Formats: sequence, structure tokens, C-alpha cells
Amino acid sequence: MKKIGVPKETHIGERRVALSPDAVEQFKKLGYSLAIESGAGTEASFANEKYVAAGVEVLPDAKALWSSCDIVMKVRPPVPAEVDLMKEGQILISFIWPAQNKELMDRLAAKKVTVMAMDSVPRISRAQKCDALSSMANVGGYRAVVEAAEHFGRFFTGQITAAGKIPPCKVLIIGAGVAGLAAIGAAKGMGAIVRAFDTRPEVREQVQSMGAEFLEVTIKEDGTGVGGYAKQMSKEFIDAEMALFRKQAEEVDIIITTALIPGKPAPKLILADMVEKLRAGSVVVDMASEQGGNCELTEPGKVVVRHGVTIIGYTDLPSRLATQSSNLYSTNLRHLLTDLTPEKNGTPNVNMEDEVIRGATVIKDGQITWPPPAPKLSAAKPKPAGAAAAPAKSARPAGHDAPSKTASLRTLVVMMLFAAVALAGIGWVAPPAFLMHFTVFVLAIFVGYMVVWNVTPALHTPLMSVTNAISSIIIIGALVQLSTPTPIVWILAAIATSITFVNTTGGFAVTQRMLKMFRK
Ligand code: NAI
Repeated sequence: MKKIGVPKETHIGERRVALSPDAVEQFKKLGYSLAIESGAGTEASFANEKYVAAGVEVLPDAKALWSSCDIVMKVRPPVPAEVDLMKEGQILISFIWPAQNKELMDRLAAKKVTVMAMDSVPRISRAQKCDALSSMANVGGYRAVVEAAEHFGRFFTGQITAAGKIPPCKVLIIGAGVAGLAAIGAAKGMGAIVRAFDTRPEVREQVQSMGAEFLEVTIKEDGTGVGGYAKQMSKEFIDAEMALFRKQAEEVDIIITTALIPGKPAPKLILADMVEKLRAGSVVVDMASEQGGNCELTEPGKVVVRHGVTIIGYTDLPSRLATQSSNLYSTNLRHLLTDLTPEKNGTPNVNMEDEVIRGATVIKDGQITWPPPAPKLSAAKPKPAGAAAAPAKSARPAGHDAPSKTASLRTLVVMMLFAAVALAGIGWVAPPAFLMHFTVFVLAIFVGYMVVWNVTPALHTPLMSVTNAISSIIIIGALVQLSTPTPIVWILAAIATSITFVNTTGGFAVTQRMLKMFRK
């Protein structure tokens, strides 16, 4: 049985902890024993006693913890003094930011340890439960609104009182990713009028479903990149976007910016002249401050007042809601450990064939394995082939692509002819009833394909689950057969009825759960 250890975070001001007492039971079910450094959870309101009551060993200091544990879970990347405490073969699970921390990566590799970076968990559906970037951005987005409210001198909601009419606060959210959507939810919840902008058109429905207005620019350019992230936009688009924000600055009271493309400096979208246009008392919360900031006047980690506008550049928003963040983060870690321990035998298996584990593992037994191969799935709708080829096309002489179009038309005609001959052949030999069923079958495949193809990929799970539930209509056949006297028939009918029942209730339950995510 391997031991998991959680040290006290050493970064100044960090209040989160990688293990919450509530999550302990689940780690134990995976076969692990657990230990924390004394006081590790104090700042997140988890006293040592709570851990002891949950069956966690409390070790006196960092040295005792790092030397006695096989797996160490942390929030912030380890500092050199912590790396020095590591021993060969140990597994470290933490935020690492390998792209920005080359020196740390080399130090860790020299220690011959295995390192899993929570910031490198691929953003694919299966890994959502381990996605600490999302869970922390969710907390950050909420906290950004709370910070804005703290510095804003008015209510968020509009009121008509005997003492006067209070207009509702107008909030502009730039970037409707995880943090942006959480900020929309929090600001709407407090009664503000919320507007949002994003370069990825696919988020429009998510923004609108949360009751916010989705702003648009006239230039058509899709900002969807790989792996569900955004891509860098053209200068023309950024200019158009800034013109929109310049106009919005005259109307809104609070701007929360979250615009970022991973691995790139944050785009400068709110310039000094726009801050000047904001009314005195307005607030800008720049969530991208750590990556250089979306606002020209942001000072990372600080709150500054410029032209009467408060600009908040905190880089530790999740840590400012430490209890919530620690709970979510330890749940993310628990899910990763579940994937790492399929046998539930307290021994981790760093299986590099598993896409999630491969993505997160940045060092394996001292070998740097970062960056991982690109994720196979994208939350984005695949582009039509023509769109991808567009820039290349203009470089070629006109009409150069004509042969490929003719070739694909020819292939289509050949395939249709082949299908017609095959159908005629089947019709010739098969009984008429079979042909009828077969035609319905082929049509069902065609209609099903067309329906699914035209649905946004983000909605595929609810679509599939509801289709699954509806397909349980076959339960009627099984119910009818239940009354037959032949035992084998009714036994099979009973089995079919119970399995279909599970399918129906499960299908509707999953659909309900998924749709709830889009409702306020
Ligand atoms: P995300 O990748 O889910 O969202 C970023 C969004 O920005 C995407 O929807 C993208 O399409 C959009 N975007 C990119 N370029 C844009 C542009 N030019 N104009 C408008 N939208 C644009 O990222 P997530 O997880 O929501 O995080 C957002 C930011 O918040 C990141 O910079 C992250 O590091 C930061 N963050 C900061 C915290 C803090 O304490 N300050 C805490 C948590 C996250």
C-alpha cells in the first residue's frame, strides 16, 4: 500500500491545500494511506483534527512528509528546497506549468521522479473530472465578480426605492471560456445586466443560455483552435474587437477580462484610452494578469486606480476562496488517482497508453515527456475541408482546384450507381418484406447521420442520451411478449424489459443532467 502525502503550500499567500478531509474516504477506497504536513489545511479552514478524524496521519514537518511518502500532491509547483527533499521513484502531482518552468523541469528530471502536471491534463470530455484548470478558473471567475463588487460603489441589481431609482450595473465579460462563463453566472445572479464577447462563435449559445447578451463584430473570423481552445486572431479582428470595447466602455460599469490563448501572452484588448472612457468608480478585473494582462494598465497581483477606475490584477483568485478551491482541487486529484489506480490496490500505474495520463505526465522516471502528442479530440466542430484550404487556394492559379472537385463528383456518382445496383440485386433475390425493412433501415441511418452531423459537438452527449432513451420504445415489444405462455419467450421478454427500463431511465437522467448545465 503506497502512501500519499500533502505538504503545506510554501508560496506566500497561497491558502489552498491539495487534500480536503471530505475527499479522504475516496482516496482510501483506492487502497492508499494518507498523510499531511501539520497545518497544511489550516488556511483553507481544515484543521489537523479534521484530517485525523478522517484517518489521515499528521506529520510534523515538510521533511518528514517528503521523505516518507510515495506520492506527493501539491497545488503550486515545488520550490527548489522542496525538489531537494524528493527521492528517486517518487510521484509528484501538482501544477507545474512546464512551458514556463524549464529550470524546474530539469531539476525534477535530475531527481529521477515522475511528475504529473495538473495544468497539462488534456481538455477532453473524459478528462473533465480531472480538469483542475477548469475547476480553478470556475472559482476564479466567481471570485472576480466578488472582487469587482467589493470595489464598485453601487448595487449590481437595479432598484426603485423611496430614496431614488438605482440603475442596474452593466458588466462586460471578455472571453467566455470557463472563467468567463462563471463570471457571467455570478454577475447575473447578483442582478447585473451582463454582456459577453468571445472569438469562438460556438460559445454564443452558452452565453445566451446564461441570460447574457452575446456581442459581435462585423468581421467574420472563427477563433476556434485545437483542443477546445482559441486561436490567435488577425490584426483586423483585434482592431474591430477593440472598437467594440471602446464603444462599450462608454456604457458599462465593470469589465472582467479572461481572454487568453494557451502558451501565448494575453492579448492587449483594453487600452489606456478605453479606461479613460469608463465612468469614475468603474472596475476592471483582469484575470489574465499573470500572462501579461488584457488591460494595458494592469499591474499583476495589485489593485491600482487609474483615471478614477479601479483595475484589479490579482493572480490568486482561487486561493481567495480557499475552502471551495481546495475541495474542488482534491476532487480533481482523486479522479486522476482513480484513473491511475484501476486495480484499486493502492499502487499507481502510470499507463502512458491512456490519453489522460499521457497528457498529464510531464516527467516519467526522470525522462521529460512533455509536450505530449496533440489531443485527438476537439470540442470544436470540424471545419469543412474547403475552409481549411482557403488560404492556400488564393496562392494557386485560378481553376487549379477544379480537377479535385470533378474527381469527388465522379466518386459520388460511382458510389450512388453502386448502391442502386446493390439495392436492385437485393430486391431481385430477397422477399418483399425484407426489402421494405431494409429501405427503412437505410433511410434511418441517413436521417440519423444528417441530424447528428448538424448538431454542435458540445450537445452530442445530451442528444445521444435522449436518443438512447427514446430508442427504448422497443420495450413495448418486450411488454407484449410478457404474456406469452412459452417460458423461454417470457423469460427473454422480462430480461429485455428490465434492461430497456435501465436504458430509458438512465438516458433521460443523463439528458436532464446535461441540460441542467445550460440552464440558470
Ligand atoms: P479558457 O481558455 O477557457 O478561456 C479563455 C477564453 O478567451 C476563450 O473562450 C477564448 O476563446 C477567449 N479569447 C481568446 N482570445 C480572445 C480575444 N482576443 N477576444 C475575446 N476572447 C478571446 O480559459 P479560462 O480557464 O477561462 O481562464 C481564463 C483566464 O483566467 C486565463 O488567463 C487564466 O490563466 C486566468 N485565470 C486567472 C486566475 C486568477 O487568479 N487571476 C484564476 C483562474 C484563471
